[in-house]
Amino acid sequence: MLASIGSSLLSRRGFFRSAIAAVGAPRLATAAGKADAAGAPLPPREGSRLIVSAPVLQNAAERSMGVAFAVSADASGWVEIASSPDMRDARRVYSGGLGMMEVNDRIAQILVRDLAPATRYWYRIGADRISYKGGYRMKNLGSEVDGNIHSFSTLGAEASGSFCIINDTHEKDAVLECVFSKLAKLKPSAVVWNGDATNTTEDWARALQTFIAPCANHPGYAADTPYLFMNGNHDFRGRFARHLERVWMFRDPAERDGRFAELGRNFVQRIGDVALIGLDTGEDKPDSHPAFAGIFQMDRYCELQTEWLAEEVEKPAIKTARFKVVVCHIPLCRPERRNPGIQSGDGSIRGGCAAWSRPCGMRWRPLLVKAGVDLVVSGHTHRFAHCAPFADCPWPQIIGGGCNADPAVKRGFPTVVEGRVENGRLCMRVHNCVNGKIVCEKALSCT
Ligand SMILES: [Fe+2]
Ligand SMILES: [Fe+2]
Repeated sequence: MLASIGSSLLSRRGFFRSAIAAVGAPRLATAAGKADAAGAPLPPREGSRLIVSAPVLQNAAERSMGVAFAVSADASGWVEIASSPDMRDARRVYSGGLGMMEVNDRIAQILVRDLAPATRYWYRIGADRISYKGGYRMKNLGSEVDGNIHSFSTLGAEASGSFCIINDTHEKDAVLECVFSKLAKLKPSAVVWNGDATNTTEDWARALQTFIAPCANHPGYAADTPYLFMNGNHDFRGRFARHLERVWMFRDPAERDGRFAELGRNFVQRIGDVALIGLDTGEDKPDSHPAFAGIFQMDRYCELQTEWLAEEVEKPAIKTARFKVVVCHIPLCRPERRNPGIQSGDGSIRGGCAAWSRPCGMRWRPLLVKAGVDLVVSGHTHRFAHCAPFADCPWPQIIGGGCNADPAVKRGFPTVVEGRVENGRLCMRVHNCVNGKIVCEKALSCT
C-alpha cells in the first residue's frame, strides 16, 4: 500500500457506522439494488461522503479479483487497476456486467478480470454518484475517488508466499481485533476465512458490518490482502444469509463449468506449490431437522460438490501441486465417536449440534484419498485441535480455534493457521491470537 488508509478511513469509521445505520437496516434491496416494496429509494445526499469503507479484496484467484466497498447513496462503483504504482496504464472496471452498470445505495462490487497469474497490481476505488428519479430521469452527479492506492498479487502456481486460515470469528470485536492484528504481522499472500464469520444475518446492515467493516482498528483488513471465503453453518442462518453474495460476491463464474454454476464458494487455488481446495460443508444438521422447516437442500449441495470435486482432482492445478490442503468449515471426521456427526437423512441429532459432517466426509473421502490430500483444515468446534491420521481419516487435520478472546479462559481461543513452504516442506503453524504463542507446529513432507 502506498498511501496510508489509516487516518482517513479511521475517521470514516464513525461515519460508516452511521451511514449503515441510516441506509442499511430498514430495507431489503433486490439484487439490482432497488428498494423493495417496503421502502422508497433514498434521495442522493449531496455533500456527504459517498465511499464509506476501505475496499475488501474478495475471492482471490489467478486471473480475477473481486473488490467491494460500501457507499452511502445511489452510486455506480469502479476500480482503476494498473501494473505499476504510478497508475499510468490504469484501466477502469465498473460494477455490474456489460450493458447496464450496477447502481446500489449500499455497496459497490466490482469483478476485475483478465489479470495475469502471480502478478502484482495496484488499484484505487471510486464511485459515480447517481441521482435516480425514474428510468428517464437519471443524472450522474460526478465521481468521488478514494485517494489511497492499494496493491495485491494474484495467485497461481508461480506465486510465492504464505497463506493463512481463520475461522469462527462470529462477529466478536475482541476476536476480530486479535485475529486481524496477527494477520497484519504475518502478511500472508492470501487469507481463507473459513466460515462462521456471522451468527445470524437478517439484514443488509448486519452483513455490511460483518464483511465490509468488521473491526474498528482494522478498516483496511482486506484492502491489500486478498481473501477467500468459505461458508460455515452459521453463514446459512438468517433472512439475508440467502443473499450474502450481495456483500461477499460469489467467485468468478468463469472458474467452473456451467453445471456447477451454483457452487459460487468452492475453489481450487494454487499458491506456488500448494493447492488450496475449498469445500462447503453446509449446515451442521440434516435437511430433515425440524429447525430447517423443509427449506434446506444441503444434501444435494454436498452431492453436487462431490461431482465438482471428482472433476477438479483430475485437473493440473491439483495434480501438479506438491501439497494439497483442503479447507472446509466442519471437520470431515473425528477420531472420537462421542459425537455422532450429521446423520444423513436422519432428523435426530444428539445435543443439537454435530461436531463433524458424516455425509460430506463419506462422499469426499475417496476423492481426497485419490488426490493425495496432505492436510484438512477445519473449524466449527471452537477448540483448536491437531488430529493425527486414523483409519477413517487418512490425513492429518488441524481444527482452528474458537471465539473466546478472554486471556483468563484457556480453551476456545481464536487462532490463525499459517502455512508456508520452507525447504521443500509445508510448514504449518497455529497461532494463539490471544497470547501470541504458537500452539502447534508441523512440517509436512511432499507425498
Ligand atoms: Fe462457530
Ligand atoms: Fe460452525
